[in-house]
Amino acid sequence: MKGGVGKSTTAYNLAVGLVKFHQKRVLIIDIDSQGNAGAALGIEIWQLQKQLKDVLQRHAKLSEIIVKTNSGVDVAPSNILLAEEEIPISGLPGRELLLRKAIASVEAQYDFILIDCPPNIGVFTINALMAAEGVIIPVDMSYLGLLGIKGIERALSLIRDSLEHPIQIAGALATRFDGRNNLSKEVQQSLHNHFGDRMFKAVIPETVKLREAPSHGLSIFEYDASGTGAKAYRELVDEVIKWQ
Ligand SMILES: Nc1ncnc2c1ncn2[C@@H]1O[C@H](COP(=O)(O)OP(=O)(O)OP(=O)(O)O)[C@@H](O)[C@H]1O
Ligand SMILES: [Mg+2]
Repeated sequence: MKGGVGKSTTAYNLAVGLVKFHQKRVLIIDIDSQGNAGAALGIEIWQLQKQLKDVLQRHAKLSEIIVKTNSGVDVAPSNILLAEEEIPISGLPGRELLLRKAIASVEAQYDFILIDCPPNIGVFTINALMAAEGVIIPVDMSYLGLLGIKGIERALSLIRDSLEHPIQIAGALATRFDGRNNLSKEVQQSLHNHFGDRMFKAVIPETVKLREAPSHGLSIFEYDASGTGAKAYRELVDEVIKWQ
């Protein structure tokens, strides 16, 4: 429910880390029309013949749109054309389950499937939540970041109660942490009070290297392997691997 908190940055660095350090088979599904997760892994998102919107419209199978990237992560990419389909897709019967049904055919080929969501609760995010076992909630260290939690928790109640899908909070993740800034520390404390042991221990720092890496089509593990961003995302990878 908030933009720019590090959803895409987390999705693609986590995906690369699961491949690189644990040899897992990982798919990222980009259900955000900004196409950031795919673009950050070097996919030319403007030149796609087929993309996720074709799958949601049932014009293509998920396996037909998957792109292999140099990082070893497979991606089901999107671009802005997905946004144009939001209203038509919202009118389809069974609209909340389009992604879950599409995933069923490829699920056995992967150890982890990560879905990168847009910053709002619309038909695409609902599809992502209905297809997922757990949700990672990145929260940036701002007051508005804390407010965004209310939005996602409301959506999770809707998913559990009205749509009867038992989704779990896999964890809340403190992102864009700046230790020199009192607000960062205050927000982190509020998050701990709210989420308790459902907080990831990894804390993602604000660092320019994390911002620069996508413009090189690289993960933080290649772009700045020894820096604080890589260290923090490595910790997250090692926490997430324990779910398997
Ligand atoms: N820890 C960080 N340190 C510095 N820059 C960061 C960090 N995390 C993300 N960024 C940068 O902030 C911007 C927003 O991050 P990102 O795209 O991951 O957020 P998002 O939640 O996916 O945004 P959106 O809601 O628009 O999809 C990007 O330019 C990204 O490179
Ligand atoms: Mg994003």
